[in-house]
Amino acid sequence: MRAVLVPVCLLLVSPISTTSWASSSELVLNPKQMCKRARRSRSKMADICINKPGLLQHIAGGIGLAQAECQYQFRYRRWNCTSAKKSIKKVMLRDTRETGFVNAIIAAGITYQVTRACTKGEPLDCSCNKNKNRKKNKKKKYINVPEGDWAWSGCGENIEYGIKRSKDFLDTPYKKRSDMKTLVKLHNYVAGRLAIKNYTRRECKCHGLSGTCTLKTCMRKMPNFREVGNRLKQRFDGAAKVIPGNDGQSFIPEGDTIKPPGKSDLVYSEDSIPTDFCHLNTTLGSFGTQGRSCNGTSQGEDGCGILCCARGFQTYEKVVQKNCQCKFHYCCDVKCEICNETVKYSICN
Ligand SMILES: *[C@@H]1O[C@H](CO)[C@@H](O)[C@H](O)[C@H]1NC(C)=O
Ligand SMILES: *[C@@H]1O[C@H](CO)[C@@H](O)[C@H](O)[C@H]1NC(C)=O
Ligand SMILES: *[C@@H]1O[C@H](CO)[C@@H](O)[C@H](O)[C@H]1NC(C)=O
Ligand SMILES: *[C@@H]1O[C@H](CO)[C@@H](O)[C@H](O)[C@H]1NC(C)=O
Ligand SMILES: *[C@@H]1O[C@H](CO)[C@@H](O)[C@H](O)[C@H]1NC(C)=O
Repeated sequence: MRAVLVPVCLLLVSPISTTSWASSSELVLNPKQMCKRARRSRSKMADICINKPGLLQHIAGGIGLAQAECQYQFRYRRWNCTSAKKSIKKVMLRDTRETGFVNAIIAAGITYQVTRACTKGEPLDCSCNKNKNRKKNKKKKYINVPEGDWAWSGCGENIEYGIKRSKDFLDTPYKKRSDMKTLVKLHNYVAGRLAIKNYTRRECKCHGLSGTCTLKTCMRKMPNFREVGNRLKQRFDGAAKVIPGNDGQSFIPEGDTIKPPGKSDLVYSEDSIPTDFCHLNTTLGSFGTQGRSCNGTSQGEDGCGILCCARGFQTYEKVVQKNCQCKFHYCCDVKCEICNETVKYSICN
């Protein structure tokens, strides 16, 4: 357990080796840096950069959310979504599966954070999601509905607003382009947003005499961001490789037998070979997996076999202190001893 936690802790306490996508001044995915380039254009992105500092802050927050989720999803993979500039910059210049995932999760992160800020009533030019029954609802807070029926109430989440702002910021600088990388990027942005929109649910509360549900009111709620990350990770595993279509305005799947990717699928146009992230390779932005902790008993991606690229690994022991022999004292206290426990962990050669 400890061995796994170590990289996470390092990430939190060492600003030198790891920089945030959103906060370092030089990063590709830093909104301020993105803005510098946009100022010359007349896009909606430029308008956000110049005139909407409050919104821009939530956009940066969304990118941060995306980064943390990406690192969580890939924590046991050869490519671990490191935010170090030397790596992420190279990854974003390519058009691989990894690039696709990062683009999708950024679009999702911005959508999520901006929507949430709107729900919280932050001073953005948005209102919370008022439903179609608004007029009916106006007089009474809740309306009586037949059993099994329900009514909208309160302030639901305005996902359309989050989606719109995410599009304004990410998509508008690319409006007039139709090169392959741009098409792929825009597709993955849409897929990222759909991973939220398609799974937004209705959350209902019952009211009425004890146990009955004569009054039921509902609100729209986004899935939590971990679910969004899990879903995009599945899309990453099933991502489709695409090649330019004949019209130069679209892409088609590589191989006749593959069904065309849907709107919520991830796509990419450049293969990354599985061993790309095994060794240090500055061209690819790979640090290699030497020194990474791996799972000595797993046969999967997190197992030492795959993660260490068959180079082998060392297993170490360390002593951790844990609560043990906990006893209940009347009343109401639990007292534990502290004992030492030996745990094993493995590190890639
Ligand atoms: C990712 O892997 C690199 C080495 O390949 C390591 O330095 C880094 O701490 C790992 N974790 C994160 C979250 O970047
Ligand atoms: C999500 O929504 C889009 C567009 O509304 C649709 O094309 C897609 O099939 C949906 N995906 C899922 C998994 O529901
Ligand atoms: C880095 O990767 C590229 C592309 O796969 C390859 O051509 C090159 O030889 C690699 N460099 C090293 C030092 O392994
Ligand atoms: C290592 O892998 C095994 C088998 O997949 C799993 O049961 C165990 O929980 C994993 N250990 C850690 C620390 O993730
Ligand atoms: C646990 O280990 C520490 C040193 O790491 C030692 O000082 C302590 O006596 C040990 N406690 C027990 C109960 O063995």
